[in-house]
Amino acid sequence: MKQKEKLFKIKIEKLVYGGKGLGRYNGRTIFVPQTVPGDVVLVEEVSRKSGYSEAIVKKLLESGESRIKPKCPYFGKCGGCDWQHIEYEAQVKFKRNILEENLQKIGRIKKPNIDEVIPSESGWNYRNRAQLKVKNGKVGFFAKGSHQVVDIERCFLLKEDIQDIMPKLKRLLEELPTEPSEFHIYSSSKNEVLLKIVYSGKFKKVNLTTEDVRKILEVNLVGFGIYKVCSDGYPERIKFFGRDFTYETVGKFKFRVSADSFFQVNRFQVFNLIDKVSKAAMEHQYNLAGDLYCGVGTLTIPVGRYVHRAFGVEANFSAISDALYNKDINGLRSVNFYCRETEEGLDIVKNHNPDFVVVDPPRSGLSQRVVRELANLPRLKKIVYVSCNPSTLARDIALFHQYGINMERAKLIDMFPQTYHVETIAFLRKVK
Ligand SMILES: C[S@@+](CC[C@H](N)C(=O)[O-])C[C@H]1O[C@@H](n2cnc3c(N)ncnc32)[C@H](O)[C@@H]1O
Repeated sequence: MKQKEKLFKIKIEKLVYGGKGLGRYNGRTIFVPQTVPGDVVLVEEVSRKSGYSEAIVKKLLESGESRIKPKCPYFGKCGGCDWQHIEYEAQVKFKRNILEENLQKIGRIKKPNIDEVIPSESGWNYRNRAQLKVKNGKVGFFAKGSHQVVDIERCFLLKEDIQDIMPKLKRLLEELPTEPSEFHIYSSSKNEVLLKIVYSGKFKKVNLTTEDVRKILEVNLVGFGIYKVCSDGYPERIKFFGRDFTYETVGKFKFRVSADSFFQVNRFQVFNLIDKVSKAAMEHQYNLAGDLYCGVGTLTIPVGRYVHRAFGVEANFSAISDALYNKDINGLRSVNFYCRETEEGLDIVKNHNPDFVVVDPPRSGLSQRVVRELANLPRLKKIVYVSCNPSTLARDIALFHQYGINMERAKLIDMFPQTYHVETIAFLRKVK
């Protein structure tokens, strides 16, 4: 491609992790957002890196088969989702291809066995949690690739009651003495709502009661808190009004989830996740299970039912307090929880010496040290790796392989419809 030639026609071959379409022009790889395989598009090159270019669509010349009209009027402007222009069945198929390619190229598995793909019961209204940005009276999400807030009336990915709250947040803004930078909303499966009002700069005292906020938002608000973003970028609680937790029931399990704890975001898929992970624990008579990055015990407690003893390690104090409570309300005596960063909890893991391990790390995956220490556990037989990033999953699988631990099979569980995000459960076994 000549340096000046910025407009050109390409055919999109496939989608890649990150959500963009991939095409080629004169041997050069071109990444284009908001495309589908089979699209023929006139694109404009917007940036050129060594080996590839980024481009945007100037004109859609021919539509790929899976292209549909996005449901949301903000699609394309809003940074909240990436794939509304793709029919849902095809989204799941493309995610499978992305997972397979990552496992092949980065994980170095010739023929990865992806034995199940579990679509979300609904591609809409699935999110139980929203982090809305606020700026100059606007409430919504950041625009793609910027910190400009797109003012949004309704987001179809969110649970219905969170959607209903969105326009009313403007009324709440009028009652607040200082404009916050974010609203965080969590709504449980019983529609109990927790709200966090997050400030990033100086702010004045909020003189509202839970009842006041409940009336403004016209929702089943059980409590709300005032938070300030601290130097590490995370919101720190200043004060909470009302109740600061709610409950989730998933199958036969009940979980307390506090305002500051993590819980899986897709309300239709939590059962499936628990089911698939616990079935792996049932396959053999495992003695001791360790669950790293355990949150409120969402996986530790169900797994704990099928093994002699279990323990969870988690960095967030709020989640660990919930986990300890959850162990009691689910009647499990043989489960322990430790509040530690995984790296600092490795001695605890070694002392317990588990034969069954679950890991569910953030997108960055596991550190080399964590992989090495887990691989060297003398009794280890099985690792169930729950991952929200196929690239770091594949990287870690390649490393586990060097220690004689192989991926037997994987399941794709679609936690994030309308986005490119891929959730995987990979089952690894120690072979030597
Ligand atoms: C993807 S969530 C999984 C939680 C849980 N397995 C579940 O299904 O609800 C990741 C969890 O890891 C925790 N976490 C993040 N970094 C951590 C670290 N370095 N050490 C321990 N826990 C960490 C987070 O607080 C969060 O609860």
